[in-house]
Amino acid sequence: MKIAFFDAKPYDKPSFDRIGAENGVEFKYYETKLNRDTVELASGYDGVCVFVNDTVDAAVIDRLCELGVRVVALRCAGFNNVDMKYAYGKIHVLRVPAYSPYAVAEHAIAMLLTSIRRIHKAYIRTRDFNFSLAGMTGFDLYGKTVGVIGTGRIGRVFIDICRGFGMRVLAYDKFRAEGLDNGDTVRYVPLEELFENSDIISLHCPLTEETYHIIDRDVIDKCKKGVVIINTSRGALVDAEALLAGIKSRKIGAACLDVYEEESDFFFEDFSGHILEDDILARLISMPNVIVTSHQAFLTEEALANIAETTVKNIVGFFETAQCPNELCYRCGAAEDCKSGRCF
Ligand code: NAI
Repeated sequence: MKIAFFDAKPYDKPSFDRIGAENGVEFKYYETKLNRDTVELASGYDGVCVFVNDTVDAAVIDRLCELGVRVVALRCAGFNNVDMKYAYGKIHVLRVPAYSPYAVAEHAIAMLLTSIRRIHKAYIRTRDFNFSLAGMTGFDLYGKTVGVIGTGRIGRVFIDICRGFGMRVLAYDKFRAEGLDNGDTVRYVPLEELFENSDIISLHCPLTEETYHIIDRDVIDKCKKGVVIINTSRGALVDAEALLAGIKSRKIGAACLDVYEEESDFFFEDFSGHILEDDILARLISMPNVIVTSHQAFLTEEALANIAETTVKNIVGFFETAQCPNELCYRCGAAEDCKSGRCF
């Protein structure tokens, strides 16, 4: 099985090479992202392996089919970059539903603690032998209320950690997880109530038409003054312009962003010698109470190994047995995991 691997990074190769070789899967690594301009590179391959910022739209799907490519193996959980409706009946789409919910949840907490205890400031200050504490006052997490939108794998790990800190949790999900609401420290509430009462809001739902800009200007108006927004899920869950306005007006106390609406133009690349063209991103980064990481929440050794293992298993399963439990299917309902294993 020969697979064209797009948006390849040095940290991807060791585990994919090792696990691929053990299972008869050969990867050709391309640094470029998959899109209409680069799709020809998939010629001669059985499948493509893509990540969060590759574009698998109608034009790319059509060309992949013409080239005889049969499978799109996502090496991530989110699939908002794939036109699932268009893909149905044309090309098979596999994904890695979970690789380490701990990696993402722990990163969200790392950003939260860094932000509210000003660790990012302290690190720079003490390196310059400046031991002053002026402007370093933070606040306790104990006793605070955290709103968690999306109580799937990552959201639930995040909630567990928050409970360890002695925080109260207000949760919202379109589909509630059984046994999570204890009627006391963890409660499912309507979104309005979550927005109005949370000191911290963390997003752990997928990006869909419904969740696009789930945090917008109106929502920010409803939030508590000083609210901390954490987004480790997908950039477009937050209206970045509204977020910036909220920071400037002091309504938002801090923002911790591992994802950004227009990240595909910048994230994962080195722009240190360039002038950043995106004014909103540049302004957000310039704020003392905004922390931006470059979609790195998933990046742990454990997660990378799990991603490679599941992706290779998906590919081998698909080609050898025509069955893959991680196939995504539009027909099974709004692009949920395919219940039958194979829908067309
Ligand atoms: P999951 O599928 O286990 O959980 C997602 C939850 O969101 C589910 O409980 C689902 O019912 C809920 N949901 C769906 N639509 C909703 C809506 N309209 N409103 C509220 N909740 C809704 O997914 P998991 O593994 O917890 O991942 C969550 C998200 O994290 C992914 O969609 C992905 O975008 C993001 N992610 C980010 C990574 C990073 O490196 N920053 C790495 C992995 C995932």
